[in-house]
Amino acid sequence: MPLITGRARECASVVIDHEACTGCGLCVKVCKGAPLAMVEGRVEVDQSILFGCIGCGQCAVVCPEGCITVSGRDLDPSDIFDLPPRQERADYPQLLKLLQARRSVRKFADRDVDNELVEQILAAVCTAPMGLPPSDTEILVLHGREKVQEFAADVVAVMAKTRWFFSRPMRVMLRPFWGKAGAEQTESFLAPALEMFVRGREKGEDWLMYDAPLAMYFHTSAYADLYDPIVAATYAVLAAESLGLGTCFIGTPAHFIKNNKKLNKKYAIPPGNQHGIAVIFGHPSVHYKRGVTRRLAGVTHRR
Ligand SMILES: Cc1cc2nc3c(=O)[nH]c(=O)nc-3n(C[C@H](O)[C@H](O)[C@H](O)COP(=O)(O)O)c2cc1C
Ligand code: SF4
Ligand code: SF4
Repeated sequence: MPLITGRARECASVVIDHEACTGCGLCVKVCKGAPLAMVEGRVEVDQSILFGCIGCGQCAVVCPEGCITVSGRDLDPSDIFDLPPRQERADYPQLLKLLQARRSVRKFADRDVDNELVEQILAAVCTAPMGLPPSDTEILVLHGREKVQEFAADVVAVMAKTRWFFSRPMRVMLRPFWGKAGAEQTESFLAPALEMFVRGREKGEDWLMYDAPLAMYFHTSAYADLYDPIVAATYAVLAAESLGLGTCFIGTPAHFIKNNKKLNKKYAIPPGNQHGIAVIFGHPSVHYKRGVTRRLAGVTHRR
């Protein structure tokens, strides 16, 4: 049965040029859809097997002879391109330096982010993997401080309305329902942070989006993996870092706007979409001289 996602309800079509095919079997090895099979030395396509063609494109990009054409599920034959040679790709030391230099930037120069940089970030995001192709990730791009501030004001207005829920008497009453971590998080972070966002806004301070000149809000359809927008946002952050921009993930807005029909409508977020994360971008007005070594909570090796 075809794999149904937000943008696809049918299998993609797969055409093999049998004249050019050498029967190496590579395409069958990588196909997990899994309509490809080697039958008596010949690649056959049977869309009734498992999901049929999900349009991942793996076969078309692995085939040494370039003799597979996949179209459908948002994949077009013209989307397939030759990769640059290995020596032109970032290697581990280069990538690690980029990762080590990234910091969460919350102070930006009074300068807009050019559209060309926005397009470069978006092009990098398009390379991100997704749970099921084609990607259902959507991005709301807020260009310029004015639009980012409008968004920040909208989110903080929702926060202001929900403040009563986190008041001291409510926190005491709801503690048993929140569990230990939930209660401790509410007490030590959520409740004081809410006050900070709301009171700061009243004083003309933006503690939510930090007066950034550009922001993106990542969300996805109900069919998609909840983590798709997070992966896409991470690609955006790393692309922006490589372009000399400062960035910061902003997790808070999603919690407050996901159930707000009015804001979902205003920002063209389709009903039922899963909310992911916001990222702010800008030319940093602070520059870091040193990096920080960090450790994870744990790594368990079983060998
Ligand atoms: C999922 C996620 C959500 C975050 N949300 C916020 C946020 O709402 N506001 C904020 O100022 N920073 C936010 N951050 C940034 C973290 O506070 C920051 O990454 C952390 O303090 C480590 O600092 P560094 O990024 O400079 O290494 C978020 C980071 C992640 C990964
Ligand atoms: S595009 Fe993916 S699912 Fe479709 S035939 Fe090729 S490898 Fe298989
Ligand atoms: S990878 Fe290409 S050449 Fe190899 S079996 Fe598949 S279609 Fe034929």
